[in-house]
Amino acid sequence: MFTDRISRIKPSATLEMTSKAAELKRANKPVYNMSVGEPDFSTPKHIQNAAIWAINNGHTKYTPGGGTLELKEAISTKLSRDNNLIFDPKQIVVSCGGKHSLYNACQALFQKNDEVIIFKPYWVSFPDFVTVTGATPVFVNTNSSKQNEPDFDDLIKKINQNTKGIIINSPSNPTGGVWSDDAIMQLLDIVKKRPDIWIFSDECYEQLTYDIPFKSIATFAPQLNNIITFQSCSKTYAMTGWRIGYLAGDINLVKAISKLQGQSTSCPNSIAQFAAMEALSGDQKCVQEMKQIFHERRDLILKELKKIPNVLCEVPNGAFYVFPNFKNYLNKKTPSGKLLKTSSDLSLYILDQTGVVTVAGDSFGAPEHIRLSYATSNETILKAVSLIGNTLKKIDF
Ligand SMILES: Cc1ncc(COP(=O)(O)O)c(C=O)c1O
Repeated sequence: MFTDRISRIKPSATLEMTSKAAELKRANKPVYNMSVGEPDFSTPKHIQNAAIWAINNGHTKYTPGGGTLELKEAISTKLSRDNNLIFDPKQIVVSCGGKHSLYNACQALFQKNDEVIIFKPYWVSFPDFVTVTGATPVFVNTNSSKQNEPDFDDLIKKINQNTKGIIINSPSNPTGGVWSDDAIMQLLDIVKKRPDIWIFSDECYEQLTYDIPFKSIATFAPQLNNIITFQSCSKTYAMTGWRIGYLAGDINLVKAISKLQGQSTSCPNSIAQFAAMEALSGDQKCVQEMKQIFHERRDLILKELKKIPNVLCEVPNGAFYVFPNFKNYLNKKTPSGKLLKTSSDLSLYILDQTGVVTVAGDSFGAPEHIRLSYATSNETILKAVSLIGNTLKKIDF
């Protein structure tokens, strides 16, 4: 009944866990949600007010397909102010979230017989963005003790004549890893003779790095036309529901994507575009305030996780996730005799016993890990990690 395209994609594992948490809540069970992929803060007031102003002043109509010129100018100024990147508004397309920008770019650039490199662990949506185009995702290992920077031997082995894209996500979801300058330069050096390979830099967590400053990948090679920078208002300004993201890159790619978008969503939401202008151009104090809170929570969750024996957790330099390794608890039995074969089994066992919602690493290509989001209160972090620790004590070693 449905096309091959539909059978090639899976439902988003993280959204699935979010709906599981909602189900538990509806049943009045205690829920400690450590699975959320969005800030727990409200959208700052000045941004909300810009949207209200837009509604009251008639900005409620279709806009140009790739976003208004005013918003593209605000993005261009932001990219120069925060990222040291020079892009003309003509090199920018605004979409309904960074996810949509990434999806569109894959649609415009990849097809059957193409291969696209994705680093493991990966954000759940990357492989599906690629497979839906008919292209094949090719997974490259990373070094978990070095912020999940690439295993360069593996990368070199996997690049071939069919390689059409490389998707980078630093700071990363799910690991929180932030690549060093050296790692980025090494990667760019490997692909310097391949202008036919598009380098996607998904920078949706660019404002959330804690131990090192963030550097946009395109700043390392401003002369290259094949680097595409993807950013979003979602995580930086607590605007996940507003759905505004954008990409900046090659002008012909921008034209192709604007055409595609004009025939799919028509344009991004006009009111949200006004809000995004205020977010990007207005007072940035809220960004620093939210980042400071995330930083403190990261340190808190790491301290608490250390108390659980046999769980290994690296210190992630960015985003709002930790990605501990639970391999010592796999292939062990629960008190009721159930064998925990995979991280999904373990994540469901934890959910069942404690009400703590997590996302199993299986869906990120990392079967020994579980992702915990710390975009939640200190109380929830303390309670959830202690519940996990107590329930793991019951597993038969
Ligand atoms: C790595 C990564 N890229 C892109 C996105 C897309 O975010 P949005 O579409 O809300 O901009 C997300 C959201 O979770 C993400 O984690």
